Amino acid sequence: MSDTINYARLQEYLETLVPPRDAELVRMEEYAREHDFPIIGPTAGYVCYQTARLIGARRVYELGSGYGYSTAWFARAVHEHGGGEVHHVVWDEKLSSMARQHLDALGYGDLIRYHVGEAVAALRTATGPFDLIFMDIQKSGYPGALPFIEAQLRPGGVLLVDNVLWSGRVMDEEATDADTQAIRQMTQALVSDPGWLTTITPVRDGLLLAYRA
Ligand SMILES: C[S@@+](CC[C@H](N)C(=O)[O-])C[C@H]1O[C@@H](n2cnc3c(N)ncnc32)[C@H](O)[C@@H]1O
Repeated sequence: MSDTINYARLQEYLETLVPPRDAELVRMEEYAREHDFPIIGPTAGYVCYQTARLIGARRVYELGSGYGYSTAWFARAVHEHGGGEVHHVVWDEKLSSMARQHLDALGYGDLIRYHVGEAVAALRTATGPFDLIFMDIQKSGYPGALPFIEAQLRPGGVLLVDNVLWSGRVMDEEATDADTQAIRQMTQALVSDPGWLTTITPVRDGLLLAYRA
């Protein structure tokens, strides 16, 4: 295997392979660039959409939804399956309201259930099970969320987690900050548990996919 692949160039190349998307999604990407807001972006978004399509997801729960960009990719899959629910959860009222406008404009408004508050607490009281859970909250919260995700995900369901490469810090032995340690801890818990089949896809900041066997 070549060891000369440039990671940034690879990401640029992968993004060119994402099919054209709705103008509203493109506007949401522009907003992220202008305001330095950390959305998953088109390549990881497409992987999320593809995964939801692959498992026929109709009930999706998001932890850490921002202004609805990742939500839109899941909603597209659920919409194409004939309907269902996508839960948008963020602790910021303004982001929740921005998400409503975008998701309405995309025509997914009827599918979305909005919650303003701490995401793991919301998941704990949600009526499961879900086909797919996506996690993109503050990284120190990743390991603690796992038991609640396990309780709410159906067997054969999928967990997707963003930022599991954390700009490469997870591979740097000298990086011992709380967020990096938390991502490593969650990743190790999943890969060492035979109840999960787990891989990391190196798109953007690393997207973990775990199948609940
Ligand atoms: C990285 S952004 C997510 C963006 C979104 N997933 C996307 O790709 O479009 C994370 C968002 O979730 C919020 N957040 C982080 N931790 C949270 C938590 N524990 N509960 C609720 N919201 C949280 C952040 O304030 C931020 O708006």
